[in-house]
Amino acid sequence: MSPILTVATTPFSDQKPGTSGLRKKVTVFAQPHYAENFIQSIFNALEGYAGKTLVLGGDGRFLNREVIKTALRMAAANGFGRVLVGRGGILSTPAASHVIRKHGAFGGIILSASHNPGGPEGDFGIKYNAGNGGPAPEKITDRIFALSKTITAYKILDGAAPDIDRLGEKKLGGMVVEVIDPVADYQALMEQLFDFDVIRSARQRGLTVRFDAMSAVTGPYAKAILEDALGFPRGTVVNGTPLPDFGGHHPDPNLVHAKDLYELMMSADGPDFGAASDGDGDRNLIIGKQQFVTPSDSLALLAANAHLAPGYGKGLAGVARSMPTSGAVDRVAARLGIKCYETPTGWKFFGNLLDAGLITLCGEESAGTGSNHVREKDGLWAVLLWLNIVARRQDSVRAMVQAHWRDYGRNYYSRHDYEEVDAEAANGLMKALRDGLPGLAGRKAGAMTVTAADDFAYHDPVDGSDTGQQGIRLHFDDGSRVIYRLSGTGTAGATLRVYIEKFEQHDINQETQKALADLIRFANGTAEIARRTGRKTPSVIT
Ligand code: G1P
Ligand code: ZN
Repeated sequence: MSPILTVATTPFSDQKPGTSGLRKKVTVFAQPHYAENFIQSIFNALEGYAGKTLVLGGDGRFLNREVIKTALRMAAANGFGRVLVGRGGILSTPAASHVIRKHGAFGGIILSASHNPGGPEGDFGIKYNAGNGGPAPEKITDRIFALSKTITAYKILDGAAPDIDRLGEKKLGGMVVEVIDPVADYQALMEQLFDFDVIRSARQRGLTVRFDAMSAVTGPYAKAILEDALGFPRGTVVNGTPLPDFGGHHPDPNLVHAKDLYELMMSADGPDFGAASDGDGDRNLIIGKQQFVTPSDSLALLAANAHLAPGYGKGLAGVARSMPTSGAVDRVAARLGIKCYETPTGWKFFGNLLDAGLITLCGEESAGTGSNHVREKDGLWAVLLWLNIVARRQDSVRAMVQAHWRDYGRNYYSRHDYEEVDAEAANGLMKALRDGLPGLAGRKAGAMTVTAADDFAYHDPVDGSDTGQQGIRLHFDDGSRVIYRLSGTGTAGATLRVYIEKFEQHDINQETQKALADLIRFANGTAEIARRTGRKTPSVIT
């Protein structure tokens, strides 16, 4: 048996997990002991895993294989009994969440930096998910960070990790490594939740689809499900081979980075339904023929129609949205007579609500939608739920969205991102806003007046924990909102996000930025964005 090595190390001071695990440049992760220190800190923060199962996989980005092999050797040295690893080191984030749950694993390690660019100059990330399949709660991530600051040694098995490209079981020290098909369990779950026959019938009637996997992890999943199982023609999935550098693109399914898809969908002869997912497969972009659907509207439409899919035929227990996500879903929840919870940004806050059975669907404005089927947001799941609904209603996405707005009114919504701004300037801007909160009520943006301003704090109704400073909110008398927060996922400088929302009952076909113009001007002026950051315009508008 290979001996267990105890390797002396010194702490890195910057291993604080953010909105979703530890994300850093590849060059940072490539430093000797960097990944090892963090993985050992994860194990040190956990208790009672001896002999238990760990799930391991990643989105295939640069460094994925190396860190998978390191993590296998460290899991063996630290006493795990079994590791389920996706073949080739591949598991999408939602598939990993499902595998953890289905196999009753102790937890899982997911290697990903989500939608951030990959390759040697790009980003890498490591995150720990607990036995419920969801991102570790803050009390665990805080402990990991604390331990990472005092670590003195890590344990690793001396000897090579086994081949991860062939399915089956192999021994590594006292541990079993089981290489699993990354798609099989996930596909079986999708077949349970959705009516594949109804989608096949819609295809036979002529429904056309384009899915852009952005050269990231969803390629194999989308090909197996959309092309092989549902019978959409080859070529329905584009950019379907995961590449370590995502082909040099940002695997971020928004209107900037999925521009080709957007232009195709807006053209007269494009397909009926277009979608894309991100680096690790948890985000989704939905565009109908000549109809972009904002993630906030998508959540609302899915909530209103989910009962049309077999997995949700009994209706919804409740819904949740992150605080900056538009209030469109709140209106649906009110009509359905169910509760809508408002949580801080980041999927980890939905976990308790899902575990307690308080909600069935949840989502974020940042292209994340999910349900109680896993404990992560799920890109392909959202696409399949949409397809199931479109197939059942035998309607176009455009007709469905327009009917929804006529019925419920429209929440105009946009997010303005200022990326890689100077961190001190960004912190100064947020501090000034926070200090100025008491003086904001009564100020006017066009015809709208600020009625309240606060710093969002969340009280978790399940575990009673409190989380503060989750974003500055300005509420207006007509229900409009402006929100400011700093990103917790960036790896260079700071990213300021400004979220702008305005509700209109009747005037539902305006251009979004025009509909929001008064609020945008007010948001920029109040935070002195140009003066403090030196930026006249946002880097990305979604
Ligand atoms: C961003 C999104 C957030 C999402 C997270 C992980 O976090 O805004 O909704 O949960 O990525 O995908 P942020 O960079 O804003 O902290
Ligand atoms: Zn992601």
